[in-house]
Amino acid sequence: MLKSGIKKKYQIKLAEFNKHNKLYYNKSKPIISDSEFDDLKKEIIDLENKYKFLKSKNSPSTSIGYKPSKSFEKYKHKTPMLSLSNAFDKNDLLNFEKKIYNYLNKNINFEYSVEPKIDGISASLTYKNNKLAYGVSRGDGNVGEIITENLKTIRDIPLEIKNTDFPDEIEIRGEVFIKKKDFLKIKENFANPRNAASGTLRQKDPNETKKIPLNFIAYTFGFVKQNNIKYQSEFLKALKSWGFQVNKENKVIKTINELIEFHTKFEDKRFDLEYDVDGLVYKVNDLNLQSRLGFTSNSPRWAIAHKFSADSAYTKIINIDIQVGRTGALTPVAKVEPINIGGVIVSNATLHNEDEIERKDIRVGDVVKIERAGDVIPHVIEVDKNLRSSKTKKFSFPIKCPSCGSNTTKEYNKTTKKYDAVRRCTNEGYECERIAVEKIKHFISKDALNIDGLGKKVVEKFWDLNLIKEPQDIFRLNYKKIEQLEGWGKLSVNNLKLSIEKSKKVTLQRLIYSIGIRHIGIENAKLISDNVKNISNLIEVIKQNNFDKFLSIDGIGETQVNSLKSFFSNQSNINIIIDLKKILDIESQSLNKNGILRNKTFMFTGKLEGMSRAEAKSLIEKNAGVTLSGVSKNLNYLIIGDKPTKKKIDQAKKLGIRILSQKDLKELLN
Ligand code: IVH
Repeated sequence: MLKSGIKKKYQIKLAEFNKHNKLYYNKSKPIISDSEFDDLKKEIIDLENKYKFLKSKNSPSTSIGYKPSKSFEKYKHKTPMLSLSNAFDKNDLLNFEKKIYNYLNKNINFEYSVEPKIDGISASLTYKNNKLAYGVSRGDGNVGEIITENLKTIRDIPLEIKNTDFPDEIEIRGEVFIKKKDFLKIKENFANPRNAASGTLRQKDPNETKKIPLNFIAYTFGFVKQNNIKYQSEFLKALKSWGFQVNKENKVIKTINELIEFHTKFEDKRFDLEYDVDGLVYKVNDLNLQSRLGFTSNSPRWAIAHKFSADSAYTKIINIDIQVGRTGALTPVAKVEPINIGGVIVSNATLHNEDEIERKDIRVGDVVKIERAGDVIPHVIEVDKNLRSSKTKKFSFPIKCPSCGSNTTKEYNKTTKKYDAVRRCTNEGYECERIAVEKIKHFISKDALNIDGLGKKVVEKFWDLNLIKEPQDIFRLNYKKIEQLEGWGKLSVNNLKLSIEKSKKVTLQRLIYSIGIRHIGIENAKLISDNVKNISNLIEVIKQNNFDKFLSIDGIGETQVNSLKSFFSNQSNINIIIDLKKILDIESQSLNKNGILRNKTFMFTGKLEGMSRAEAKSLIEKNAGVTLSGVSKNLNYLIIGDKPTKKKIDQAKKLGIRILSQKDLKELLN
C-alpha cells in the first residue's frame, strides 16, 4: 500500500476510535461492545508499530482517553454514597452499639472491621464484565460526576480484573488521596492534602491530573451483582486479590474496650503514616447484619467514624457576632485574629449559644483556645483567664433579634423540664431578613432543590440586589440584569437558567424538606409526603390547619406537629407553598408501587421477636406497606408481639381490623 493510503486508513480508524471514545467516556452511551472497542484500539496501535511515520496526538497510544467535557457528565450511583456519623469518645461508641442492639432487638455477638479513615475524597468505580466502565465522584451522594479519565491516571486503579471470582458488575468504593511527601511539593497551591486530591481529580484535563501522584485505597462496595462474600474483612481480602490497594492497617476487633485501646495507639502512630488519617472507621463485619441494619437518611447504622482529637491553637477574640439561622436560632460567632490550625486558616469560631458564653464567660478581647477537627466548624474550647485584660466586659447577649428586632425566646422542653440553650427569633416567615436569606439558601441546597450554579454566596448577592426575596423569585429571575453583573456572562447565565429549569421537577418529599420547617428533615418530609400523597392534599391540610392528622404517622410526634402549626401560622409561608405549586412540577409520592403490601397499613403492639420495631417498619416499607401509630378505621392489620396492649386489640376487634401474629406477617411477606 502507498504511504498516502496507509495514512488515510490510519486516519479513518482514528476518527472512528475517537467517535466511540467520546460516546463511551463523555456521553456514557457506547454503541459498540468493549471488545470491538479494544480491537479498534489495537488495530491503530498495530499500524503505528508497523509504520513508524504514523503519529497522532489523538491516538490511543498517546492520549489516555477522551477529555471529559467541560462540565462533567452526571452519573446516578446505583447505591447512594453516604457519609458516616462521628464518634469522639467511649460514650458515643457505646451509644452506637446500643442502637445496633436495639435495632436488631438482640444482643447478637458481632465483630468490627476497623479501618483507618484516610482524609481524602471518595470515588466509586463501576466495573462491568471485568473492565472499569465508570469512575465517579461522590457528588451529592446520589448523583456524582463521571471522572473516569482522571481516575484512570491513578496507578492503583486496575483497568481490568482477570480473576474469575470478580463480580460481573460491581461499584467499588474507596478513597483518593495524596501522600504527605507528595503534598509538600505542591503545598503552595492547596490548603491541605485533601483539597489537593480533590482539586486534582476534578481537573478538566486528565493530563493535569496525571502530573500529581494520586493514590487509591479501596474499602467498600456499592451495588454488586451477586455477592457471595459474607464479611467485610473477607471483602477486603478479595479486593487485594483482585489487584486493589487496601489499607495495611485494617484489623478485626471485638469489643469497644479493644477498639478504644487500638484507637489510642493509632492516634500516635498516624503521624508515621504516609498519608493523613482523621480517625478510624468501625464497620459491623458481618455483611448480612449490615444489610439488616441498613441506613438512616445519610449514614449507615452499621458503621461509625471514631475521630482523632482535633488540632488546636490560641488566638484573640476581636468581636462576637450574632448570626441568625434558618430556624431563627441566634448563634454567637467569635471573630478571631486569623490563625493557622492544622494547615487551615481560621478566623471564625462558633460559640454555640447563649448558655455557652455565659458558662465559659467568654468576652471580646479574651485569648481563647480554638479547636478544629476535620470539616467540623472550629469552636472555642476555653478562655485563658490569666491573659484577660481588666478592661474586658461581660458579654451581654441580645434579647431582640439583631436582624429584624423581633422578640426572642428560649423554648421550654416539657420532657426534659428545661429551657433550651438556644435563643430564637420568634419570626417564622420572611419578615426577618436573615431568616429569609437562610431559608432561601436551604431551599437551593443539595438535599433540597439542588440548583447548580446558585450557591450560598450567589443567593446573598442576589438578595442584596433585590433579585431574590422569596423562593419563588428564583423562577422569575431578571437574567438580563444578572448578565451585566461582574463575574457573570452569557454562558454562566445560560447554565444557571438550565439548572433552575431542571430543578422545577421535584418530588413532593424534597419540596416539603426544601421549605425549611424546623424539625422536618428529610426523613420526616418523606413520612408526610407518603401520608398526603400529593401537593393539593398538603395544601388542604395547611388551609384547614389539620396538622393533628399527622400524629397518626409512625415517626411524627407533637414536636413536629407543633412546628408545622407554628410555621404555617405565618401567611407568607402559606403563600409561598401555594405559589410554588403553580411554578413547579411536583411529582406525587412514587411509593414503592410493586411491593406486595401496597396500599396496606400496619400497626404493632407488644415486643417483637428477633427484630426491633424500626426494622419491622422498614421491612413493611420495603414492601410498599405503611405503618401507623394508632388504631383507626384506616388500619388494615394489627400485628401482635409479646405482651400486647389489650386496649389496642379490643379497639381493632371492634373495627373489624385483621389481627396478625409475627408469624402471619412473615407468611404474608413470603
Ligand atoms: S465507608 C456508607 N470506609 O469517610 C459507608 N469510608 O464520612 C461510607 N472514608 O465519604 C464509606 N476511609 O470518603 C469508609 N475505610 C473507610 C474510609 C471511609 C475514609 C471516608 C469516605 C466517606 C467518608 C464518610
